[in-house]
Amino acid sequence: MSARRTLLRTGAAAALAALAWPARAASPRTAPLVEVWKSPTCGCCQDWVQYLERNGFRTRTFDTGNAEARARLGMPERLGSCHTARVEGFVIEGHVPAREIHRLLRERPKALGLAVPAMPIGSPGMDGPEYGGRRDPHDVLLVAADGRTSVYQRYP
Ligand code: CU
Ligand code: CU
Repeated sequence: MSARRTLLRTGAAAALAALAWPARAASPRTAPLVEVWKSPTCGCCQDWVQYLERNGFRTRTFDTGNAEARARLGMPERLGSCHTARVEGFVIEGHVPAREIHRLLRERPKALGLAVPAMPIGSPGMDGPEYGGRRDPHDVLLVAADGRTSVYQRYP
């Protein structure tokens, strides 16, 4: 093959890649789907869902409460919060920031998922103007399959 033809082929491949990449990056269809079990009346759950939609995820919500889903998905009750979610095989409990969920999907550790127990003020969905800028320190926990936890990210 001549050098010129090689160059042409490489150029064509690069052009195709350039065409394909923005389409893939921009398509909402490729955003990971987060399934969320939540209370129908809880405003902070809805705020967290909308926050995920603004931060690179698609969502599907089930207004059934989350106690049954939490038990079924194996998230320990002591780590419980107001909503339980599933994304690409991982379980997400509570007001977990999108940043840590993206990191989880990138790193794919051997784990059940992530949890922010209870409802700390200042976490995503618990940070509206009604909280007056208050931020309580809290940790995002990595939860192992046996329920043991380690700190995945600290929010001091
Ligand atoms: Cu909440
Ligand atoms: Cu909630």
